[in-house]
Amino acid sequence: AVALPAQAQSFPAADKPITIIVPFSAGGPTDRVARDLAEAMRKPLGNVSIVIDNATGAGSSIGTAKAARARPDGYTLLLNHIAMSTMPALYRNLPFKVDSSFEYLGIINDVPMTLVGKPTLPANNYKELAGWISQNKSKVNMANAGLGSASHLCGLLLQSALKTQLTTVPYKGTAPAMTDLMGGQVDVMCDQTTNTTSQIAAKKVKAYAVTTTKPLTTPQLRGLPTLDSQGLKGFNVTIWHGLYAPKGTPAPVLAKLNTALKAALKDPVFIQKQQGLGAVVATDRRVEPAAHKQFVAAETAKWSPIIKAAGQYAD
Ligand code: MLT
Repeated sequence: AVALPAQAQSFPAADKPITIIVPFSAGGPTDRVARDLAEAMRKPLGNVSIVIDNATGAGSSIGTAKAARARPDGYTLLLNHIAMSTMPALYRNLPFKVDSSFEYLGIINDVPMTLVGKPTLPANNYKELAGWISQNKSKVNMANAGLGSASHLCGLLLQSALKTQLTTVPYKGTAPAMTDLMGGQVDVMCDQTTNTTSQIAAKKVKAYAVTTTKPLTTPQLRGLPTLDSQGLKGFNVTIWHGLYAPKGTPAPVLAKLNTALKAALKDPVFIQKQQGLGAVVATDRRVEPAAHKQFVAAETAKWSPIIKAAGQYAD
């Protein structure tokens, strides 16, 4: 059932929480963006409460499907990232269509990734890491957050660039993966700076490189070389995050949510938190629903052939 016009006009009701579905584990990079964004959207939405529902599994397709099925009344949203563009190439039977099961509310940010290793890994720079990987090949355990996740995509690109097949260990998010990496249960991971910056600063993991074509300016990440400059020419992946509502959410509700999102992305506290973790907050142009939808379609067209060439399917 679609929200009645009356409900749509009075959205959001003061006493009804808005839920943002995060399809990865609490404490991870996607969750980090969602919690910071929820905090920044509360005031523009009239101090409503916004709760996070970590609906995890299958590289974010479980939580994304849950959002697609939700009542289209504005009280259930989805925050997901590049997985919206990679899942279609990895899952043959998704119970939703990225381009028609959702309303697009806008892009939130771009987050670079870092290649990190367990503290006891016998390599102290990228060159030594590449040597260690080429010696150990499938004995190397690389953590990710399931097929479709950002860490999976980065791992796929890294393995094809190094022409080496590693053993991949999937988690419900890179928060639990990071715990195992710090504990030495897995060897390497490619993860977003929103999750690795503090662990790198605390020297709880070894940091080897960044996945952007330009070095990062965040103090803790400044010294890391780009993979592009370390022999992996053209290696370039940043993880964009977007906000979505179920298809059929009434236009007045979408307009209010988009206005609140734009206000949140201009919130100095939100910007400062994101920049401190290496993320770049989206500008107004990218927060337009039409631009968001076009961008996701372009990213899907870009990544699908790359993923298909790697020949990995999740189902
Ligand atoms: C990913 O690898 O897609 C994310 O880091 C997963 C997460 O947010 O935990």
